[in-house]
Amino acid sequence: MELIKKLCDAHGISGYEDEVREIIRCEVENYSDKVYTDKMGNIIAVKEGEDKKVMIAAHMDEIGFMVKHIEEQGFLRVTPIGGWFSQTVLNQRAIVHTDKGKIVGVFGCKPPHIMKEEERKKVIKIEDMFVDIGAESRDEAKDMGVEIGCPITIDRELVKLGENRITGKAIDDRVGVAALIDVFREVKTDVTLYAVFTVQEEVGLKGARTSAFSINPDMAIALDVCVATDFPGVNANQEIKLGKGPAITVVDASGRGLIAHKKVLKLLRETAEKYEIPYQLEVGEGGTTDATAIHLTREGIPSGVLSIPARYIHTPVEVIDLRDYNNTVSLLKKSLERCEKYL
Ligand code: CO
Ligand code: ZN
Repeated sequence: MELIKKLCDAHGISGYEDEVREIIRCEVENYSDKVYTDKMGNIIAVKEGEDKKVMIAAHMDEIGFMVKHIEEQGFLRVTPIGGWFSQTVLNQRAIVHTDKGKIVGVFGCKPPHIMKEEERKKVIKIEDMFVDIGAESRDEAKDMGVEIGCPITIDRELVKLGENRITGKAIDDRVGVAALIDVFREVKTDVTLYAVFTVQEEVGLKGARTSAFSINPDMAIALDVCVATDFPGVNANQEIKLGKGPAITVVDASGRGLIAHKKVLKLLRETAEKYEIPYQLEVGEGGTTDATAIHLTREGIPSGVLSIPARYIHTPVEVIDLRDYNNTVSLLKKSLERCEKYL
C-alpha cells in the first residue's frame, strides 16, 4: 500500500513522467543488473539470465491536461491529454506544474443559482472549462510560472476505501507500475527479464512501441488495469468483478486491439490453476493496452495482458481491491518463474 500510494500520488502526464521515473529508479536499482532510461524516456530494469527475453510493460503516464492559453483575467484554458469524460473534470482541484514549482488550481463553473434550466442538463466540454489559479491577471499568472504547455494533473491523494479497497487518481496505471516493481524485486527466473516502465501509453501506446523494438523480446505481457463492470448502471453481459482476481485478457477492443497470443494465455491460465490463484477471463470491447503496440513490433511478438480490475477508470476516483493487486503480483511472479517452456 505504501509503494502504491507513493506512485499514485506522484504526478506525470504523458511525456512528463519524470517524477514517477525517479521513484521507480530508486525502487529497482538494488535489484537490477542494469537500469537505464532510453531515448523516449522509458525506464528499463534488466535481470540478466539465459538468451530468451521476456518483457513486462506497465505505463508510468497518467491522463491530465496542458495549458493552451492564459486569459487576460488570469484564467487558464486547457487541452485534455488522454481520454477524459468531461463531466468528471468539472470542479476538481488540479495542480499546474511550472518551472517555478507546483501551483494549485480549480476547474471553476457557474453555481446552480445562475444556471438556466437547459444549462443544467448539458455536459460542459473541457474546451469551455477554465482553471482558476488565484491570479488576477495574465501577468500575475506568468509571474507565478505559468506558461503555454505547462502540464496539469488532478489533485487527489490515494486513500483506503472500506476494508480491502483503495481510491485515488492515476491508479491507471501506477498500480501496474507498483506490481511490476514488486514482482521484479522478488522473482527468480532463468530468462532475461526486462521490466519496462513505459511513457505515453495514454496518448497512443508510444513508449511500448519503441522499447519493444529495441528489446525484441520473445514474449511480452502488459500489466494494466481493466474495466470492472460490477456497479450500478453498467449493463454488461460479462462481469469483471473487484475481488475475484486479476483479469487475463483474451481479446480487447473486440479483437481490434489485441488478440492475446495462445502461448501467453496458456502460461497465465495454467500458472493460475497450478497455484490456485483466482482469475477472470476478459473479452473486452473498448480500451486497449501497451500489448497492442508490442505485439505488432518487428515480425510480431507473442503478447498478452494481465490486469487489475478497476472501477471508474479515467476519473479522479478510480477504485481497486488490494486482494486483486496481491493476486496479480503472485500470478505474474509464478508465471515468470515457469515461462521458459512456453517460449
Ligand atoms: Co488509461
Ligand atoms: Zn492504463
